[in-house]
Amino acid sequence: MSFRIIGTGMYVPSRVVTNDDLAQIVETNDEWITKRVGIKERRISETEFTSDMGYEAAKAALDSCGCGVEDIDLILSATVSGETVSPSTACMIQNKLGAVCPALEINAACSAFIFLLETAAAYFALRNYKKILVVGCERISGILDWTDRGTCVIFGDGAGAAVLERGDGYLDAVYNVKGGDDVIKIPHGIGCSPFFKREQDSPYIHMQGQETFQYAVTALCDDVNTLLERNNLTMEDIAYIIPHQANKRIVDFARKRLHMPEEKMAVNIEKYGNTSSASIPIALDELVKDGKLKRGDKIILCAFGGGLADAACLIEW
Ligand code: UT7
Repeated sequence: MSFRIIGTGMYVPSRVVTNDDLAQIVETNDEWITKRVGIKERRISETEFTSDMGYEAAKAALDSCGCGVEDIDLILSATVSGETVSPSTACMIQNKLGAVCPALEINAACSAFIFLLETAAAYFALRNYKKILVVGCERISGILDWTDRGTCVIFGDGAGAAVLERGDGYLDAVYNVKGGDDVIKIPHGIGCSPFFKREQDSPYIHMQGQETFQYAVTALCDDVNTLLERNNLTMEDIAYIIPHQANKRIVDFARKRLHMPEEKMAVNIEKYGNTSSASIPIALDELVKDGKLKRGDKIILCAFGGGLADAACLIEW
């Protein structure tokens, strides 16, 4: 059993932080960030926690399809930057919405929105659920090392959500995990046990940019090609690819290798930066709001990131 996406929503904080603003904090400049990453500005939270943004995006998604919280059978959320470990961000969103359905969270970093969809598909098969709400939400600004110009300039805060209804629009998915923390790592604080003998690592994002870049381009192309081949499709059959918004150059490299025309690749990184698990549902919501998707269109969502984990799915709109 599968689903159709019947509603989408997003939320970003109002505070716009430009490249020039960042040049006041670390040694960087607008030209480098624009050329190497494709970002002009990002939204950074001043007051919202992750679950606040997740809640706003969830509410927008519900409103977009006229659903009440009582219609939702399950809430699945993803984040690497929640304000609490327990309650999970999913439980926080459930509570803020006033819902009574089960809620659980998964962590697959930047690929998590596709892992959420796959998990939702499994729940539709397992239970007699009619509607599932999925939310990717991040206050990445809270886990950045703001002295590290290699990471603090590429991320942003925000949330995106979708309402899924039992149906037949989720056609196929591919997902891979390589494991290991040498390329991307976000450590937790190690606590204050008087018995624990290991050193505290910096509790912020560490990333080997070049290695991540190469992995990202390869994973994106391989995953999209696998979906096309397995489903006897060509690029001509695909209305849009919605990639994780990590770096405009990653998307451009992959697009050229895939022979995909520029206008079929959804890109909004210039406005929001890399919002990790929120980037795909935000880009999806903007496509929907711009009226670019019509029922029956085939689209591919694809992502890569910490884990290392990558994933892609084929959806009939
Ligand atoms: O969403 C999770 C997955 N993450 C990603 O997919 C990110 C993938 N990686 C990337 O997007 C890119 O590797 C980065 C944007 C992180 C870095 O871009 P790059 O083109 O790979 O730069 P680099 O690390 O090779 O550094 C090139 C130069 C270095 O200077 P030297 O050694 O050549 O003099 C860096 O020190 O650019 C310098 N540099 C900067 N200069 C100005 C690095 N960061 C900055 C900066 N401003 N913010």
